[in-house]
Amino acid sequence: MGSDGLIDINAIDALPLDISLMVRSLYIAAAVLLAIGSPHAQTLRGASARGKKIAEMNCQKCHAIDRVSASANPKSPPFRTLSQRYPLDQLEEALNEGIMVGHDGPEMPFFRLRPPQIADLLAYLRTIQSRAGK
Ligand code: HEC
Repeated sequence: MGSDGLIDINAIDALPLDISLMVRSLYIAAAVLLAIGSPHAQTLRGASARGKKIAEMNCQKCHAIDRVSASANPKSPPFRTLSQRYPLDQLEEALNEGIMVGHDGPEMPFFRLRPPQIADLLAYLRTIQSRAGK
């Protein structure tokens, strides 16, 4: 700290109490935001954590559901590449309408997820999308 332009946290003690508290809470808020917002955060929370479970239980058998693996079934696009084909909002709509685009081969079982599960799954998918291709 200090050298990268941030206020040295140790210098905060010299400030009047109310300002010092304010600065401290800003630091805490920033730390929390960094932890939540980091694309490399190891732990997923809430919706995306539930969505990951859904993907593990229903989809992982064929699709890669993380940022790096190859799909177990090579014909199944890795989930991280889905947004390169169409906006994920469109996929969410299709799932809500019970339409599974591209899933008409015998390869693909028919899934009917409930809307809250679809929202969770999409929340997870949004955390793993890669822009760069594979
Ligand atoms: C038994 C294997 C299998 C399972 C399980 C499976 N899929 Fe698929 N999925 C496929 C195959 C094969 C394709 C490619 C089909 C094609 O291109 O016609 C595919 C394609 C897709 C696509 C892309 C469709 C498109 O138009 O690009 C989506 C989205 C998708 N799957 C979602 C899911 C979700 C969500 C689950 C879990 C709820 C799931 N899949 C489970 C085999 C599977």
